[in-house]
Amino acid sequence: MGRYEKERNFLKSNFLEFKKIKTDKMKGVPKPPIVKPYHMDATMIDLPQVSEEVVTNSNIYKCMKDRRSTRFYSQDSLSLAELSYLLWATQGITCTNKAGLTLRTVPCSGATHSFETYLFITRVEGLQEGVYRYLPIEHKLLFMFELREMDQRIDDITLEQPFVPNFAKKAAVVFAWSTTPYRSEWKYDISAHKKILIDIGHVCQNLYLASESLGAGACAIGIYDQKLIDEILQLDGEEEFVLYLAAVGKKKN
Ligand SMILES: Cc1cc2nc3c(=O)[nH]c(=O)nc-3n(C[C@H](O)[C@H](O)[C@H](O)COP(=O)(O)O)c2cc1C
Repeated sequence: MGRYEKERNFLKSNFLEFKKIKTDKMKGVPKPPIVKPYHMDATMIDLPQVSEEVVTNSNIYKCMKDRRSTRFYSQDSLSLAELSYLLWATQGITCTNKAGLTLRTVPCSGATHSFETYLFITRVEGLQEGVYRYLPIEHKLLFMFELREMDQRIDDITLEQPFVPNFAKKAAVVFAWSTTPYRSEWKYDISAHKKILIDIGHVCQNLYLASESLGAGACAIGIYDQKLIDEILQLDGEEEFVLYLAAVGKKKN
């Protein structure tokens, strides 16, 4: 018994075991909502229609070649049109299939899209500093709350950064993706969890490439305080919890 056995097994396919299971979907359990519900009186912000006009480098070859994890940012703000594009690139809905599933700019196992996108916004033109959530169906932002001393809180969340300490708080925006695992478990049961992790990788890679195409830079963040960020975002830590973060800002010249 190696001490990594459990974690290594998690990385493997358990399809044959899964095939023996009657999933909640097969049992006729109602499908969970595809996005987290929200109060009708929530403050919503319209996002500009996504347009190629924000893209300064549309050469995919160059975007892939030049992309780097970027941890130093200029003081420039992102425009709302640029943020709109980044949100579309990471979770935007491009069509709905016959089964009513949303198909997006990112691939996802069984189109289960178990993620919500939360944003710690510091520098986006026209938006007050604070915490927001992206609503992919409406392509809008939901303003959640102002966070006092947000830069310090981002620092506390992204603790002990090994390469550039405290870089995340200097970003224009910090993306925090949560998962609601049941959206995938309903369909994939014990196979859901490995898929969720693969799915989020696609999301973050699109953020990297889309940022590059804007003259901005992104950096994935896997080192974070789970309990603290779940508390700040008011997630229960079981049915929904943060999975991954990424900081984005305009590059320094
Ligand atoms: C899953 C994952 C987690 C990461 N977590 C962090 C992090 O917490 N802090 C950080 O500075 N960089 C983080 N990175 C960025 C990597 O350090 C970076 O991708 C790697 O050093 C290679 O550099 P490149 O992205 O410029 O090619 C993470 C990347 C991935 C894919």
